[in-house]
Amino acid sequence: MPKISQLDQQYVWHPYTQHALEQEPLAVVRGEGSKIYLEDGSSLIDGISSWWVNLHGHAHPHITARLNQQLLELHHVIFAGFTHRPAVELAEKLLHRLPGNQAKIFFSDNGSTAVEVAVKMAVQACLNRGRAARKVVAFSNSYHGDTFGAMSLSARGGFFRPYEEMLLETRFLPAPSNSSGEESAEALEEALCQGDVAAFIFEPLVQGAGGMKFYSADLLNTLLSICRKHAVFTIADEVFTGFGRTGKLFACEYLKESPDIITLSKGISGGTLPLGATSCTEEIFGCFLSDERARMLVHGHSYTANPLACAAALASLELLELEETKKSIVRIAETQNRLRDELAEAPDFTDARVLGTIFACELLQKGESGSYYSSLRDKLYRFFLSRGVLLRPLGNTVYCVPPYCTTEEELLQIHSAIRDAAQALKEL
Ligand SMILES: Cc1ncc(COP(=O)(O)O)c(C=O)c1O
Repeated sequence: MPKISQLDQQYVWHPYTQHALEQEPLAVVRGEGSKIYLEDGSSLIDGISSWWVNLHGHAHPHITARLNQQLLELHHVIFAGFTHRPAVELAEKLLHRLPGNQAKIFFSDNGSTAVEVAVKMAVQACLNRGRAARKVVAFSNSYHGDTFGAMSLSARGGFFRPYEEMLLETRFLPAPSNSSGEESAEALEEALCQGDVAAFIFEPLVQGAGGMKFYSADLLNTLLSICRKHAVFTIADEVFTGFGRTGKLFACEYLKESPDIITLSKGISGGTLPLGATSCTEEIFGCFLSDERARMLVHGHSYTANPLACAAALASLELLELEETKKSIVRIAETQNRLRDELAEAPDFTDARVLGTIFACELLQKGESGSYYSSLRDKLYRFFLSRGVLLRPLGNTVYCVPPYCTTEEELLQIHSAIRDAAQALKEL
């Protein structure tokens, strides 16, 4: 029988992959806990939760049991005009845990679609109220997804250069990690002064794909209160930060101000099945209620609120609320903090930082650019694989966001690889 990787090369096109340069993909045959097992019999510790989705480890038995039960009952059904228990229970449970002003959940398929829905909600809520406000404000250096609307809200000049002329016009504020509260507030006031802005979208406290850049809750509180003053909706994109990543269930819990709309995906199903969710206030939902059908939210995907994905999400939430999981999140944060303190003294690393379970630092090498496309990134990626660890640096930013089931021993193995990366690069 041909190997999986041979068949792959013949038939498959991978995401964010330059097929002319990159090595053949590693074929995974099984996952258990924080480990993935490869076709050749070796294994890797998944230090990035498989693109930030996995919370409790691969093939978790509790999620598997819930899914098995759901598979016997209902796989999928149209969600316009129909509903089912997994979706209703999940919406209820999410709303009980999200900030108190959130009242309704709209389901979709992934993080990008959750963002598309959020923007359409904000723009159409304004229109339905008789205000033509079609612009959105976002931070520079942000990332909100790969669909056209979501790309339009993401950093310009980066990944999306080939499509840039096709993107919607967005007003950008300075990147929050490099900007003072005053500078950001001034830029926001200026962006809002024409009265044509429907919403301000942000990744709360961490710009993930933009290099795991952290910024303060105070800055965000200031910007949210300005939006409130101008009656501009605020959208917290918690696609990465949600479900415990920052040490709290949602990063919005660090804020005094509450956003009007919140987007969720990635960890929502514990890393089992694709699912997106966009929550909003009663006020926004109310803007769509009318005798005219045309005022409804014009959005829906074939697999909206897929029962299997909702069942996995319910099982994942149950796991997330176990004392054992909460303790693991604290333990991972403490161990990540120890690495941060150690690297603060190390010459080849700068800006080591931790928020909850997220660790990140910059690795500097003479003569190497730190861009996403730099060869440094590829060398680091291959070095980590050689050490039995899956880490996928963003340019020269090395980061680790492990599943919460990662043992102390596994986390220390990841840390030891990060510690040795600088020296290894010098020898390559
Ligand atoms: C903050 C944020 N929003 C949206 C997305 C897009 O999510 P997806 O890849 O599921 O479309 C991502 C993905 O990394 C993200 O980090």
